[in-house]
Amino acid sequence: MKFYALVGSPRKKWNDDQLIDRFIDGIHDLLPDAETKKVYVYDLDFKGCRSCFGCKLKKNETGDCIIKDGIHDLLIDIRNSDGFVMASPIYFMDISGEMRSFLERLMYPGPTKKELVISTIYTMNMTEEIFKEKMAPVTGFINAYFNANFHAGEVDTITAFDTLQRKNNDLYVPGHTDHEAKAARHEVQFPIDLQNAFDAGVRFANKAKNKQDEHS
Ligand SMILES: Cc1cc2nc3c(=O)[nH]c(=O)nc-3n(C[C@H](O)[C@H](O)[C@H](O)COP(=O)(O)O)c2cc1C
Repeated sequence: MKFYALVGSPRKKWNDDQLIDRFIDGIHDLLPDAETKKVYVYDLDFKGCRSCFGCKLKKNETGDCIIKDGIHDLLIDIRNSDGFVMASPIYFMDISGEMRSFLERLMYPGPTKKELVISTIYTMNMTEEIFKEKMAPVTGFINAYFNANFHAGEVDTITAFDTLQRKNNDLYVPGHTDHEAKAARHEVQFPIDLQNAFDAGVRFANKAKNKQDEHS
């Protein structure tokens, strides 16, 4: 089986990247032979959907995106994979801009033939209470689009709140955020977040395995 792990943060080795690594460990714990490909969307040479409707042309038999840039082949490969996990920081109450642009290109060609297993990871500064109060429309729409385009069913979501944003606070001008308190919380909470990501990876693999068994 082949899976993609899409990192929507520009910061390597930070919150999203570490959580996705543990998620991948969880996949391999259950499916040691699974192929997992990690992709940093900020490293790719692309722009969002241009609304050219090339994917909808009658003569376009595959219905694939026709823009020949740095993600053309990757989009096709993801759409033919067994599933993906998407990790994104919350930027201005949404997923990051690059991830959003990437999803436009991945989803506008419409429903895949295959059912994909999909999980999401969101990391953010806000608390769990604010996330629940404010973010449901955003995550709900993303899940609905994943369902409509990839037949994903229930999308398993894990979250990390009040995340560490920077190291060595002495370098930065003081602001309203208490970065010392964040660092202290990180020591205690982040190992739990990592374990949650691992467990979610196992659940994801289990779902993919069950799907494969159903279809064989
Ligand atoms: C441009 C920008 C916008 C952000 N907007 C929000 C926001 O609206 N809500 C929030 O809770 N956190 C916000 N954050 C904080 C990040 O979501 C948070 O630090 C995240 O965990 C960073 O992920 P990373 O460490 O993987 O890069 C923002 C950060 C940046 C850089």
